[in-house]
Amino acid sequence: MLNWDEFYAEEKQNHNQSAAAAATQSPAHLDEKEEHVAAAPARTEPDASEPAVQQHAERAVATPPTEAIARAKATVAKMDVEEAVAELEGTGGRVQVDEKRMINCRADLNQLVPFKYDWAWQKYLDGCSNHWMPQEVNMSADVTLWRNPEGLTDDERRIVKRSLGFFSTADSLVANNLVLATYRLITNPECRQYILRQSFEEAIHTHAYQYCIESLGMDEGEIFNMYREVPVVAKKAQWGIQYTRELSDPSFTTGTVETDKALLQNLIAFYCVLEGIFFYCGFTQILSMGRRNKMTGVAEQFQYILRDESMHVNFGVDVINQIKIENPHLWDAQMRDKATQMILEGTELEIQYARDTMPRGVLGMNASMMEEYLQFIANRRLAQLGLPEQFKGVSNPFPWMSEIMDLRKEKNFFETRVTEYQVGGALSWD
Ligand SMILES: [Fe+2]
Ligand SMILES: [Fe+2]
Repeated sequence: MLNWDEFYAEEKQNHNQSAAAAATQSPAHLDEKEEHVAAAPARTEPDASEPAVQQHAERAVATPPTEAIARAKATVAKMDVEEAVAELEGTGGRVQVDEKRMINCRADLNQLVPFKYDWAWQKYLDGCSNHWMPQEVNMSADVTLWRNPEGLTDDERRIVKRSLGFFSTADSLVANNLVLATYRLITNPECRQYILRQSFEEAIHTHAYQYCIESLGMDEGEIFNMYREVPVVAKKAQWGIQYTRELSDPSFTTGTVETDKALLQNLIAFYCVLEGIFFYCGFTQILSMGRRNKMTGVAEQFQYILRDESMHVNFGVDVINQIKIENPHLWDAQMRDKATQMILEGTELEIQYARDTMPRGVLGMNASMMEEYLQFIANRRLAQLGLPEQFKGVSNPFPWMSEIMDLRKEKNFFETRVTEYQVGGALSWD
């Protein structure tokens, strides 16, 4: 991969080459170039007495508008501003902070400020400052290791394939749920701003998996169809999709106890279970591989994804808890039981996934250690929602995971970008 100095040098060279080529090309091409060059000095005010300016003015006056231009002008002239404002989402009046609500809000959603939920805006800013792109990670050591028949054991290869198989489609399920269901139903502009940022991050995650799959020369059909063809992966995808189905119907609206609860269930399913539990076995396995200096490029991609995901979970938990505060009647015994069941079903599915992907001990871990870790995570999700923990006496067998989640970009991320990683600098996996 190029570093920036090389990139600019190459750009300059390309530019010079195309300028030289243009000199020998058709008149039309030359005209374009001349126009481009002529436009550059126009940054200074043109002198109205210059012949070119006079000609331009005369031509503008002399040319009658086309029929299409005349129609456009007539349409704009006929616009009724009051009618247009009335059609805008919400009341159209200036918004006061106490009118803002997480769901079923009637205030204008196009006015970002004044903020009511400062935490949502702060998470949006934090997400932006964590920005990264998959191509910035060096994959060359991974390609060499993957191609070497002795490079990884069969159990390690299974973990890489299953992880990419699950995540490559799971992030699309999350993104689809956000843009087709959640975004429309969360009626707060600062939260929507974060959801837009999160949606882009999900696109980056899908991009990262595709980038890994392509770099390693994997069978794309096999990997992208695991969510339909491999039972433990399919079950997790199927569990999530059931919570999108009703809400992504364009005629679905909130506003009754039943529909508001359906939205709450959707938020719990995606933020607390899909992003908050289903990602954890695969993340732990790949990051453990990276700590052993294997598949370090894939592991680095997963590390940045995990950092994003932990923020998504925290955002989702804050949204759910805010909905509970504003609508205490929704958080009744039936809803609390449903939420607990959802977390426990998700934990069971993830434990099954752990057993399938680790039939034997591998990378210093095994399925029963992962089971305890997932129970530890489940307790945490329950506690975040104000629900009693269900797994007594469990502890975290992988404390290094928390350290990786708290990775600060300033400390590690830039050190591994373009120029440094080419000379062998990579994240420290101690
Ligand atoms: Fe994601
Ligand atoms: Fe996410």
